[in-house]
Amino acid sequence: MKNFILSPKHDHQSLLFPKDFLWGAATSAHQVEGQNIHSDWWNWEIKHQPIDKRSGSADNQYNLFEDDFQLLASLGHNTHRLSIEWARIEPEEGDFIASEIEHYKKILSSLKDKKIKIMLTLNHFTLPLWVSKKGGWTNSQTVEYFIRFIKTIIPSLSPLVDFWITINEPNVLVWGGYIEGSWPPQQKSFLKATQVTWNLASAHRKAYDLIHKVIPNAKVGIAYNVSSYNALHKDNIKETVLEWSMNFFGNHFFYQLTGKTHDFLGLNYYFNRDIDFEGKSQLPQLFDVRKAKKEVSDLGWEIYPQGMFEILMDFTSYQLPIYITENGIASTNDHRRIRFLLSYLTEIYHAIAAGADVRGYIHWSLIDNFEWAEGFEPRFGLIEVDYQTQKRIPRSSAFVYKKIIESNGIPHNLLKLLGHGIDVKKEMEAIL
Ligand code: BGC
Repeated sequence: MKNFILSPKHDHQSLLFPKDFLWGAATSAHQVEGQNIHSDWWNWEIKHQPIDKRSGSADNQYNLFEDDFQLLASLGHNTHRLSIEWARIEPEEGDFIASEIEHYKKILSSLKDKKIKIMLTLNHFTLPLWVSKKGGWTNSQTVEYFIRFIKTIIPSLSPLVDFWITINEPNVLVWGGYIEGSWPPQQKSFLKATQVTWNLASAHRKAYDLIHKVIPNAKVGIAYNVSSYNALHKDNIKETVLEWSMNFFGNHFFYQLTGKTHDFLGLNYYFNRDIDFEGKSQLPQLFDVRKAKKEVSDLGWEIYPQGMFEILMDFTSYQLPIYITENGIASTNDHRRIRFLLSYLTEIYHAIAAGADVRGYIHWSLIDNFEWAEGFEPRFGLIEVDYQTQKRIPRSSAFVYKKIIESNGIPHNLLKLLGHGIDVKKEMEAIL
C-alpha cells in the first residue's frame, strides 16, 4: 500500500487576515471628552439623570488625548475611530468657534504623527442644544445646519481624515429617542421616528455629495447597527417571514433610502435576535435570552459570534468593502473580553475565507467610557479607566489584541485563551 504523507496546505501558525487590514478601536466625543456642556445630552442628563449617571468629566480625553493616543499607538493600533463634537464647534446658532476647530485639528494631527489612520464620525448621537430646541432631527432644517457645520470644518480637517462616517447608527438614534423613548428627546412617536429616519437619510446623502465635491476620492459611509436575526423554529413559516422582514427593516432599509451614497459599509455588530412564534401569544416575540443558558455581557447582551459571520455574508451582496466599525463587550471580567475578541475575530476570518470583503476591525472601545443612559458602570474598554484619578490601565485583552495586530491575524497559540476556567495570567505569560 502506498504511503500517504499528508502535508499541510499552510503552516497552521495563525489565522491570517488580508494584507493592509485595519486594526483599531473606537470612541465617541461625548462618551470620552467630558464637559460637553452645549449638547442636548448634557442638558438631558442634568434634568433626568442622577449625578452618578451624568457624563461630567467622562475620561477627560478633551485634555488627555495625547496620552491616550500614545497608548493606542504603543498597543499597535494602526487605525482609530473617533468623533468630533458639533456642540463645541457651534455652541450657538451660526457662531463657529475657531479655537475648537483648531483643537480637533490638533487631535487629528496627533494621530497622523503616529501614522494612525483616522475614521472620523461627524455625528455620534449628540446635537448642539440649540439644534435640539428647534426640533432636532425631526426638523428638516437640521439637515441644512448639519451640512453647514460640515462645510465649516472641511477646510481644516479634511487633509487628516482617511474615512468619513457621516452618522453613527441612525437606527439606534431613532430607537432610543423616538420609539423606545429612553434617550433624549424622549418623544415616543411613530410619526417623528419616520421624520427623523427620513432626515437622517437626507443628511447622509447630502453630506456624501458635499464631501465628494471637495475631495473626489474621499471614502464616505455610515456606521450602522446591524443585528443577526434567527427564527428559532425554521419550519415555522410565521417565524421565517418575520426573520426576513426584521432583517430587511432592521438592517437594510436605511441603505435603500441612501442608495449609492456609500463607498464602504461600516457595520457595528452587537446583537443577535432570536424570533419565537411558538408561544401562546399571537404577537411575534423576541426570545428572551436571559431564559436560556447562554453567555451574556454585563448588559445582558447575548454573546453570539456566529452572528458576525451571518451578518458579513448577508452584506457581501452590496459588493462594497466592509469595515467592522464597532464590536465589543461590556464586561468587568477581562477573560470574557479576550474570549469575545478571539471568537468574533475567528468568525470574521471565516467570513473573509468565504468571500466577504472585510478590510478592518475597530473594537468598541479603546477605553472605558460614558455609556449613555447607563452611565459609567458598563466597562467596554481594552483599557481600564479609574474615574477617580483618570488613570489608564491597559487590560490583558489590550495585549492579546496587540499580539493579533502584530501577527495580522490570530496566532494559534492564542486560541487556547478561548477555554473556560483556565489560568489566564499563566497562559498569557507563556504566550505574550
Ligand atoms: C454606540 C456606542 C455605544 C456602544 C455600546 C453603539 O451602539 O455607537 O456609542 O457606546 O454601542 O453600547
